[in-house]
Amino acid sequence: MATMWNGLSFKFSEESYVTLIITLAITVLWLLWSVSNYFRNQNQPPLPPGSFGFPFIGQTVDFALAYRTSDGIERWVQKKIDKHGPVFKWRFLGFPIVMMDQPEGNRFIFQNEGTSHHTFWLSHLSTLLGPDSLITLPGERHKLARRYFNKFLDHTAMSRYLPGVNRSTIRHFAKHWQGKDQVVGSDMTHLYTCSTICNLVMTLEEGPLMDKFLLQFRTWEKGFSSLPINLRGFQYYKAVKARKMICEMLDGLLEQRRKEIAEDNVSNASKVDILNNLLTVPDENGNLLPDSYIKDNLLLMLFAGFGTSSSTLAMVIYYIAKNPHVYKEIVQEHKLILEEKYASGKDDDSLTMEDISAMKYTWRVIKETLRFQPVVQPGNPRKTVTNLEYRGYYIPKGWLLMWNQFSHKNPKYFSNPLKFDPSRWETPPALYTFVPFGGGPHRCLGMEFAKMEMLVFIHHLVRRYSWSLKDPNGLIIRDPFPRTFDKSLITVKEIVSL
Ligand code: HEM
Repeated sequence: MATMWNGLSFKFSEESYVTLIITLAITVLWLLWSVSNYFRNQNQPPLPPGSFGFPFIGQTVDFALAYRTSDGIERWVQKKIDKHGPVFKWRFLGFPIVMMDQPEGNRFIFQNEGTSHHTFWLSHLSTLLGPDSLITLPGERHKLARRYFNKFLDHTAMSRYLPGVNRSTIRHFAKHWQGKDQVVGSDMTHLYTCSTICNLVMTLEEGPLMDKFLLQFRTWEKGFSSLPINLRGFQYYKAVKARKMICEMLDGLLEQRRKEIAEDNVSNASKVDILNNLLTVPDENGNLLPDSYIKDNLLLMLFAGFGTSSSTLAMVIYYIAKNPHVYKEIVQEHKLILEEKYASGKDDDSLTMEDISAMKYTWRVIKETLRFQPVVQPGNPRKTVTNLEYRGYYIPKGWLLMWNQFSHKNPKYFSNPLKFDPSRWETPPALYTFVPFGGGPHRCLGMEFAKMEMLVFIHHLVRRYSWSLKDPNGLIIRDPFPRTFDKSLITVKEIVSL
């Protein structure tokens, strides 16, 4: 029977044979891999429950919408937990993520950092932070850098910074609060933390230079929540450009400071700041740090220490106003501190580390605020560097793990969790149920400074003012950190100074 194929003859060239053999070999290898994978998977624990949603997009939009309000994100997670259990998988911006349970998941992440997983930043965010930014460094490089930076920000270093923070707090109230009967709480705490962190990092006082710096800093910061499109006109492009300009400004600052240090011969005693330390203290090999390393980490400290403390303080103002008995108790604590000063003939405007330690109730109020409104929620993800097993689930290499603080409203760990009750902190919470400053090797480096600057702010605030909220039932949103919709607009009343 004649067919259309009759008369066709195939001629194989040598190259065709080679191609055919390679194709066959790849096919056989793929089949073998699939079969062995199948049998291996028979003994392998299951992946965590949950859904990845649409390819690549996953729950990105869903999550971003829920994230806009503080209870929105809590409800989003609770819905997933109700459906899948406390450990569940989901997908964000193409990455498979496992949301970990509490408190065991936090413990697992913080204790095994560097072994089964590392810190993880999307590459466009790492570009904004710079290659030597402490927060992006994994393993041994991080350990060495952290040991170096700890010296300037641990508890013992705080006594060096306290007088400066105290002075700038007094100036802040005189300049921005005095004579006003209404202020926007968030704007005030923003100004305050901005000047304290700029002073800590590089002794930059409020004024035209700080304004010029902040203009670029804010553009740079916006890059962290923008689409990663590095094309003219896009926000991310502007942020990359702003980083370049900030680095140029820092170049000038470094040059000037080096001159001042040389004139002072060894160190510039009048400037007790991080920059001075980074320029004068050698690393473990006896070398001074390269400029690029210094600039990346000055920028990191400004970034990490600015919005976090500002948001927390604004929420403290909000919760104190909503709970008059808390205001009364705080005032009582600070009155006692001042009475002791008067009794011993000390200057009542000065503060010592002993005074800071005596502000126990105030610190509990801050902790209770962080329980209600954790600033970093959920925590920065970690990326698995090995396949691992957790709670009977298999988690492949390359997936992300997310620590979080969703235990804060769980009655199992915090009784009567919807009550703002600073007295609950008289006894410590269960381990890993309260981690507002993170944990493990990447735990917040600035925690001691944050604690001190917030306590000093509240000390001077309650000495001078009582206040009430314009809108006590305002919505709490995330921007990206918690704040009330009206930015804690308050009516203030000067009180006879304590
Ligand atoms: C209420 C205020 C603050 C909160 C709630 C907070 C919270 C955090 C959290 C959750 C982390 C990440 C931990 C992790 O991924 O495991 C972190 C890291 C960090 N924070 Fe803070 N922070 C605050 C204030 C500050 C301040 C004032 C500074 C600077 C003086 C600062 C400097 C840093 C640095 C440098 C890191 C990176 C540490 C590393 O990767 O080794 N933070 N912070």
